Amino acid sequence: MPDTLSITDNRTGKTYEVPITDGTIHAIDLRQIKTSPDDFGIMSYDPAFTNTASCRSAITYIDGDRGILEYRGYPIEQLAERSTYLETAYLIVYGKLPTQRELDEWTHNITYHTFVHENIKKFLEGFRYDAHPMGMLVGTIGALSTFYPDARHVLDAESREVQTHRLIAKVPTLAAFAYRHNRGMPFVYPDNELSFCGNFLSMLWKMSESKYRPDPVLERAVNVLFILHADHEQNCSANAMRSVASSRSDPYSATAAAAAALYGPLHGGANEEVLHMLAEIGDKKRVPEFVKKFKSGEGRLMGFGHRVYKNYDPRAKIIKRTADEVFDLVGRNPMLDIALELERIALEDEYFIERKLYPNVDFYSGIIYQALGFPVEMFPVLFAIPRTSGWVAQWREMITDPEQKIARPRQIYTGGRGIDYVPMEQRKTAPAAEAVAAPR
Ligand code: SDX
Repeated sequence: MPDTLSITDNRTGKTYEVPITDGTIHAIDLRQIKTSPDDFGIMSYDPAFTNTASCRSAITYIDGDRGILEYRGYPIEQLAERSTYLETAYLIVYGKLPTQRELDEWTHNITYHTFVHENIKKFLEGFRYDAHPMGMLVGTIGALSTFYPDARHVLDAESREVQTHRLIAKVPTLAAFAYRHNRGMPFVYPDNELSFCGNFLSMLWKMSESKYRPDPVLERAVNVLFILHADHEQNCSANAMRSVASSRSDPYSATAAAAAALYGPLHGGANEEVLHMLAEIGDKKRVPEFVKKFKSGEGRLMGFGHRVYKNYDPRAKIIKRTADEVFDLVGRNPMLDIALELERIALEDEYFIERKLYPNVDFYSGIIYQALGFPVEMFPVLFAIPRTSGWVAQWREMITDPEQKIARPRQIYTGGRGIDYVPMEQRKTAPAAEAVAAPR
């Protein structure tokens, strides 16, 4: 049997053969389906891209039904168990595990770029004391584009290499500086003798000691959490990265757009919302009353559900295991009891079962971060740091993909046509168009 679709247009009785490649049809092949020569032809309509592949990618594989997540073919469980974040970032960016020499060179290149221009401190000092750190991060990542005008040469492989190192290296520094600004504490410069995660902890928490020594359990926990958050194929923020960068915008501006997308409570901002939700529930005895609320459509069970995973998010399982190791060190977060009760009840409830709503990566990550001493506002920032390597990998893949060009979707036009201009004196105060209810 041929790999084609036979489409009959019942308006004309004509039949069309449309090739199937990689389980898809090219939407542009629908344009030949017309009712007359001046007909524009058929388009596909897919709000939020629920069933549309925007690209070919070899970076991350997800099987939502089987709960499988692989970076460049390597199962997330093995990477979380045996790799470090920086090695995983190399794998995601270059598509292979590094040799020792390659890893040493990669580590040097990232470490070498951890410092930011002193003027960045002035930007951060301009934010209010209570500015959300994710807002500060989005702003300062975008500002980096003004320090590296060479980044506009996106078609130059060498320039892409330098920006790759700079972005992965500097985002943690900006994140730590934002945290210190919120705390009214002096910025701590990078300590390039420490590991990627150890240095991040030092920039956050070093006080008057001459040298910060990260606790190995905490350093390992941050490595695992960063590995789990490094990439996730064509999620909302990856799509933002690709779309903005498709105009050949510099990678700092595109990364700022990706971080802005991640900031949303339905995406990377969910980990912060989970803790607000758990705090509002306050006691596991009140869980049933909140589950009832969510089922009636009053708010959402944050940290549950996923566009792709219709089974357990494999990252949530690993995070839950990591939580135990962290709590052994820093003490159990009481929010965990509420979260476990919420999960237990939700997983038995028909509403969640029939909608295939399971805990996602954000459900437990915030509980660990809070136990580690991070304020909830820092949670999306902690998501953005490792996801920078995923965004950079998506950018590099998009910019070198011959099938890609500037992203410019079509629309179904629903407005008026050919309306004559009305002089002011003839205008009547027409009733304001009713506000469209925001999607839940
Ligand atoms: C991340 O895409 C990625 O890969 C993202 C991410 C990554 O690594 O990049 O995995 C990270 O963003 C994880 C998701 C974090 N967000 C949340 O935890 C916020 C809460 N979850 C949702 O808002 C929702 O589940 C989404 C946004 C995650 C997915 O939304 P979908 O696939 O568009 O599903 P939907 O909104 O169409 O919902 C389908 C139904 C609806 O009910 P009905 O209209 O059929 O009656 O399920 C309901 C929704 O109301 N529903 C929920 C729910 N999520 C969906 N009901 C209660 N609680 C929820 N969490």
